[in-house]
Amino acid sequence: MAFPTVRQRRLRNNQAIRNLVKENHVNVHDLIYPIFVTEGEAIKNEIPSMPGVFHFSLDQLETEIKEITELGLQSIILFGVPNKKDDVGTQAYDDQGIAQKATRLVKQINPNLLVMADTCLCQYTDHGHCGIVKKSDNGKEAVIENDSSLALLVKTAISQAKAGADVIAPSNMMDGFVTAIRSGLDESGFEHIPIMSYAVKYSSAFYGPFRDAAHSSPQFGDRKTYQMDPANAREGIREAECDVIEGADILMVKPGMAYMDIIHTLKQNFDLPIAAYNVSAEYSMIKAAAEKGWIDEKAVAMELLVGFKRAGADMIITYFAKDAAKWLRADS
Ligand code: PBG
Ligand code: ZN
Repeated sequence: MAFPTVRQRRLRNNQAIRNLVKENHVNVHDLIYPIFVTEGEAIKNEIPSMPGVFHFSLDQLETEIKEITELGLQSIILFGVPNKKDDVGTQAYDDQGIAQKATRLVKQINPNLLVMADTCLCQYTDHGHCGIVKKSDNGKEAVIENDSSLALLVKTAISQAKAGADVIAPSNMMDGFVTAIRSGLDESGFEHIPIMSYAVKYSSAFYGPFRDAAHSSPQFGDRKTYQMDPANAREGIREAECDVIEGADILMVKPGMAYMDIIHTLKQNFDLPIAAYNVSAEYSMIKAAAEKGWIDEKAVAMELLVGFKRAGADMIITYFAKDAAKWLRADS
């Protein structure tokens, strides 16, 4: 059947009918808000390339956590910005590390706020890579070692769980990290703690502002020997398959905007919950264009968030979480 019998516009006549036929919704409970915590005192510094996103020292955290809670957000993901780095990322798995201290504090302030811990080494290593760096056999190149890195990532995950993290979210892209972390957690009595795997993580220029924020840029080379090539889709299925077999509980796709097809494919192929990471540059680009008066920030940001839901994301990590919570509240 077609026109004139079928008229698609009948279901677009007014807001009420549009609401009735709406297929996807962004709910405040779908959102995960990233927070950067740093050593020091009285620090609440805005990250220049990410307007509205701050570094917080621990003494500034309570106000922020209360505001987040008040907005109805239920989940955060913590990123530590340490004041000491070394070649093996010691601060990542120190029980007194900044992320561990922040986790304990947040759980004290609001025990019901779900705290996810990003499990990686790049903020904590002086070379800025996500694993251990060794000289290659000819002594000329540096390589990011896989299996020796796993041991440190397992230690990191265990110390994050000990500090009270509710979800472990490994972002390092070493092979076998889910197996390693799952067994490490299980042996330490954390068999009940889920793993949200950064399963399909691309080597992306969209991480630029985050690396300013987290001071985690690689000091030489790039991450292309462990993060995925943006040109590849089928390889993403293989990455996800491995993580499912290894025991991941949630699969993440990162970045989001340029990878909606990957979110969709994972949703079709796997029965695990899917997370999308709406990464830093996706946020900064919208903020910058809005500051110039070129776009309607709220409309563009909400369109993007519902786009993630439509593609198949069950949850979205986004720097827009606080803004979105406010907008959703104002509109309800
Ligand atoms: C580190 C990490 C990155 C992000 C989250 N964890 C960047 C990277 O791989 O360099 C990016 C987040 C963002 O851009 O918002 N493993
Ligand atoms: Zn990393």
